[in-house]
Amino acid sequence: MSDILTIADLKDLARRRVPKMFFDYADSGAWTESTYRANEEDFQKIKFRQRVLVDMSNRSLESTMIGQKVSMPVALAPTGLTGMQHADGEMLAAQAAEEFGVPFTLSTMSICSIEDVASVTKKPFWFQLYVLRDKDFVLNLIDRAKAAKCSALVLTLDLQVLGQRHKDVRNGLSAPPKMTLANIANIAVRPGWWMGMAGTKRRTFRNIVGHAKGVGDVASLSSWTTEQFDPHLSWKDVAWIKERWGGKLILKGILDKEDALLAANTGADAIIVSNHGGRQLDGASSSIMALEEIADAVGDRIEVHMDGGIRSGQDVLKALCLGAKGTYIGRPFLYGLGALGKEGVTKALEIIRKEMDITLALCGKRLVTDMGRDQLRR
Ligand SMILES: Cc1cc2nc3c(=O)[nH]c(=O)nc-3n(C[C@H](O)[C@H](O)[C@H](O)COP(=O)(O)O)c2cc1C
Repeated sequence: MSDILTIADLKDLARRRVPKMFFDYADSGAWTESTYRANEEDFQKIKFRQRVLVDMSNRSLESTMIGQKVSMPVALAPTGLTGMQHADGEMLAAQAAEEFGVPFTLSTMSICSIEDVASVTKKPFWFQLYVLRDKDFVLNLIDRAKAAKCSALVLTLDLQVLGQRHKDVRNGLSAPPKMTLANIANIAVRPGWWMGMAGTKRRTFRNIVGHAKGVGDVASLSSWTTEQFDPHLSWKDVAWIKERWGGKLILKGILDKEDALLAANTGADAIIVSNHGGRQLDGASSSIMALEEIADAVGDRIEVHMDGGIRSGQDVLKALCLGAKGTYIGRPFLYGLGALGKEGVTKALEIIRKEMDITLALCGKRLVTDMGRDQLRR
């Protein structure tokens, strides 16, 4: 553990420990992956102002996201199939986030169910909703999230049609994996992974199987999911979802100012400036480059969050400087989970916290909430 100093170190270890199919699922973007790469690269173009001889004592990274206290403004993003990076992955990541004092967001497409995660956590987590064609199933999911006392609903807007990730097609991605010769050979040399999987009953989409009509087993599941993403979804749908949910609502997947203005009119509590980690519209702008214009347009009417490409505490601070009140990490926590289970998720959060704290000090600030545009060299 002592030689793990960066998120890239966790990624290297995860590559060795997680079967190729699932490592690639995390480490991939749509088509040419240009937006996936831009999400990370564009952070490097932003520079801080270094300040000296100011009082740097008593620093704090504490903040709030949608009115909820956070030990630092970095939530875990919703990610599908997390329980395939490591056995019981969503439950472990939720526990790590809870202990760290940051929000965990459970994906609709998770392996562990809403009820599984609720059974191992004490504080409320957030639930991410995909609106699917089967409206009874969607209504039921919302009610299950309410029953589990989730404290925010994150409604994803940028996946009405699925972007293509070539690696997933080539690898024949499925959960659980198909027992082809190539998969068996790949899994056999990752004993930690398969022993964990052999010891859990959670190996397929447990929010769905047994809950959606006609999905009783894994075979029926795969045709169901591909047919279920709903191209008809519109802004009008946000209203009934908000009404049915009745709690804090976050709209995820806004990358354009016009959409941000429409989102602000819905009465939602926050938006997430996001391109789904470069997994949907290849060729779209990086999230960090889209952030400032959106924050300027709606920041006084709705809380603005962002995700995409954050690989360090410095990236978090840059996003805060450009107008985000909160941020999310997807791959950084998945790499931690794949590398070292729950400890690895905690490690990812610790790396980011340390980088934030030192950077804050060297920028001459004590409170993370004081980071603003004047902290950037432009
Ligand atoms: C493996 C993986 C699975 C994902 N699954 C979902 C999902 O089920 N729902 C969702 O809203 N976003 C999903 N996302 C997008 C993330 O919530 C988030 O927007 C993205 O990971 C942020 O970029 P980063 O990975 O560079 O931090 C997924 C991302 C990854 C990497």
